[in-house]
Amino acid sequence: MNKRFLLPLLLSLFSSFALANEIELEHDPIPTDRASVLRGAEQVATVCSSCHGLKYVQYRSLLDLGIAKETVDVWRGDKPLNSAMKPQMAPDDAAAAFGVTPPDLSLMAVAREGGVHYLYSYLMGYGVGANGETTNRIFTVTKMPDVLGISAASDAKQREEISAKAKDITAFLNWAADPRAGDRRSLGIYVIIYLLIMTILLFLWKKQIWRKIDAMEKL
Ligand code: HEC
Repeated sequence: MNKRFLLPLLLSLFSSFALANEIELEHDPIPTDRASVLRGAEQVATVCSSCHGLKYVQYRSLLDLGIAKETVDVWRGDKPLNSAMKPQMAPDDAAAAFGVTPPDLSLMAVAREGGVHYLYSYLMGYGVGANGETTNRIFTVTKMPDVLGISAASDAKQREEISAKAKDITAFLNWAADPRAGDRRSLGIYVIIYLLIMTILLFLWKKQIWRKIDAMEKL
């Protein structure tokens, strides 16, 4: 066979193998509305924070998000408002208990391939293996327990509730990874309006100049 075809052929074979081995993520839409983000914040601050910190999210920014001061005070305990969200369990204790330190969640929504869909699929990915052990189809050897209890949820209503919770949590972690995204979007609208007005003004100006030039040419 011609050598020129060999490399592309090998590459395409390899990529189809890679695709076949890829784990199928769930692609349910992840909400971005404020109510979901707020519900997710509560879950993260009360459930995930037992083990995970969010070193780029200060308690103060939860106030900006719209969470009541009294609620944030309960979540932060004796930590100052401008401290980062800390795990309740000391990292060394967690490492001793799980064999690995639970990673920081600040940027987790963008850290893994698949982004928010990875996060949601991971939280929902727990099941029961052949020997009754808890498994996770997304991260098969994960040391994190099934904190939302999806592996034990049998009826549809219960699964639906856990799925909604996982979506809220993902919505909050997505906000946490880029808290200024909303500001940027609303700024963008003003920039576009400004550019439109400038375009119209420049167009009218150009027409006026050309009218003068045309008039001069007729002389
Ligand atoms: C009881 C402790 C504990 C709680 C509670 C907990 N986690 Fe974890 N989590 C862990 C540990 C331990 C790991 C590290 C797993 C590993 O690398 O094997 C982990 C890893 C992760 C990862 C990284 C997975 C990856 O791909 O590396 C994500 C995402 C995550 N947790 C999200 C959450 C969220 C969201 C919550 C709250 C709903 C939560 N965790 C609650 C212990 C916990």
